[in-house]
Amino acid sequence: MKDLLSVRDLDRTSIEEMLALTDHFVEVNNRAIRKVPALRGKTIVSLFFEDSTRTRLSFETAAKRLGADTMTFAVSSSSVKKGESIRDTVQTIDAFGVDAFVVRHKSSGVPAQVAGWTDAAVVNGGDGWHEHPTQALLDAYTIRSHRGSLDGLRIAIVGDVKHSRVARSDILAFTTLGASVTLVAPPTLLPPSLEGWPVSVSYDLDEVLGTIDVCYMLRMQLERQDEGLVPSLREYSARYGLTAARASRLAPKALVMHPGPMNRGIEIAPEVADAPGTVITEQVANGVAVRMAVLFRLLGSGTQLDALTETDVMRESDV
Ligand code: NCD
Repeated sequence: MKDLLSVRDLDRTSIEEMLALTDHFVEVNNRAIRKVPALRGKTIVSLFFEDSTRTRLSFETAAKRLGADTMTFAVSSSSVKKGESIRDTVQTIDAFGVDAFVVRHKSSGVPAQVAGWTDAAVVNGGDGWHEHPTQALLDAYTIRSHRGSLDGLRIAIVGDVKHSRVARSDILAFTTLGASVTLVAPPTLLPPSLEGWPVSVSYDLDEVLGTIDVCYMLRMQLERQDEGLVPSLREYSARYGLTAARASRLAPKALVMHPGPMNRGIEIAPEVADAPGTVITEQVANGVAVRMAVLFRLLGSGTQLDALTETDVMRESDV
């Protein structure tokens, strides 16, 4: 595997292997020195054409904990501002000698294009409404860490599915791992056609609350909406927001998830966001370990995992 562009690149076995590899890096992240030399000498570039807090920092943290060198490309201070094309930008950075690009762009398909222009590995860090495969892996990992497996679980994905790359990748990952997925949204926030999507649909959050193991809330993608898809945010929250009253009707072991960034008070009430059954910060923490697993899988072929044992902890001065 050269690139990770879509969850479709992974079958059930390879997702399960990636999650098992993640267990190993969770253990590394719990050590006093959270670092292993697995990707020493490799260079990983984050090429983010769209805003991000957690995904970019998470990948950069993952790369550093594997001992790789990192470079960050920020559009706002780059020659893209002078009109340089993405292809020329990629080829310029590639000429420095790069092993992997993590690419985020507001247009679907840009990471796949970049993969065609470079021999380096390319990881999709989120492209338009298309996919966000590492988010799906960290979400699957978080659910698995609580429930052992996703087999037979009922998962509701609630809110702005239409504009959500997270929803598209999550649906693929969750169903591949044996869960059933129900999309809960007003018709205007669903894609025009769901043909071929392995999901069921409900327009009524109250109806599904008592029946689910995971309530996955999506961010209302206000920046991607130029038409009035909901009458008002207040009305949207009243029908589809996870309020404290609604959260109290979830099964006791049900998990509440959100990819972040949250619109507190719109799709999720502040007190629900901070409640014990909510695993949003665990998702963020697991994101680092999952991305370590992905980068290791793509770039670490020469390194034996067994070599990264407790006794092989790097000293800070080695890095
Ligand atoms: C998501 C994204 O950017 O796709 N955030 C993230 O990566 N954790 C979700 C979102 O922006 O709503």
